[in-house]
Amino acid sequence: MIKTLRKAVLPVAGLGTRFLPATKATAKEMLPVVDKPLIEYAVDEARAAGIEQFCLVTGRGKTALVEHFDIAYELEATLRERGKHAELRALRENHLPPGAIATVRQQEPLGLGHAIWCARSFIGDDPFAILLPDDLVLADVPCTRQLADAYHETGGCVVAVAEVPRAQTSRYGILDIGRDDGRLVEVRGLVEKPRPEDAPSNLSIIGRYVLVPEVIGFLERMDRGAGGEVQLTDAMAKLIGRVPFHGLRYQGRRFDCGDKVGFLEAQIAFALKRPDMAPAVRAFLKNYVTDGAGPDA
Ligand code: G1P
Repeated sequence: MIKTLRKAVLPVAGLGTRFLPATKATAKEMLPVVDKPLIEYAVDEARAAGIEQFCLVTGRGKTALVEHFDIAYELEATLRERGKHAELRALRENHLPPGAIATVRQQEPLGLGHAIWCARSFIGDDPFAILLPDDLVLADVPCTRQLADAYHETGGCVVAVAEVPRAQTSRYGILDIGRDDGRLVEVRGLVEKPRPEDAPSNLSIIGRYVLVPEVIGFLERMDRGAGGEVQLTDAMAKLIGRVPFHGLRYQGRRFDCGDKVGFLEAQIAFALKRPDMAPAVRAFLKNYVTDGAGPDA
């Protein structure tokens, strides 16, 4: 029997060094795309997939991420008094049921695998999703929903995958693929950040996973992999052959918000999806692009 997916783990202990000084005193997952922080996109996406319980794997200086999901009574009262209904609605959208968010601490940055292992009590014997908030996906059907649907079809593990240029394989977990129906790909092997010449394919894992709890047993060994870190990819690879394991070519566009250019691209793509902003954004972009200069040039 395939167990229903209800839990998600969101690793958010990273230091965000690529965004210093912006991330000196604030968590990188609090950086907004348009007007919503990355963490809220991830939680919203998980909720849209039927996730009811969330575990944030946090570290020092990440308190704002947890407080973001508290109810801001004073602020809501003020907005109500002032008749600011749209703003009030925007705040209320992120209200979660009491007890829906748990946090665990990852005291040392030992890798993504270690971060997930830190959530082992929360995971227990249940399947769980992982969302890396740095990876933002713009999609008609939220990416985690697509993964959850695939998981409820196949059981086992399902990871979201996308083709990348071969020169970029060393940035990702890469699949060795078996049967491929164009949507679901059978995973025969997984390698974390291989050099292009060693990569078994150019199909990469993006930061969305549905995994079985058995992965924790392999993480427990704390084997060090690429970059000297405890790699989730290596532990997942041990599950191949024991449980069904598929890659899902999800529908949508992924933005790497851990990268400055990717983050900027996400701002533009998400702004262009907003009817209240799109015309103005399109107009100024045209201006920049046609002349290769800004409006003042
Ligand atoms: C992590 C994973 C990698 C995956 C990537 C997706 O790498 O280890 O397998 O492809 O996320 O964003 P990181 O970006 O943390 O180096």
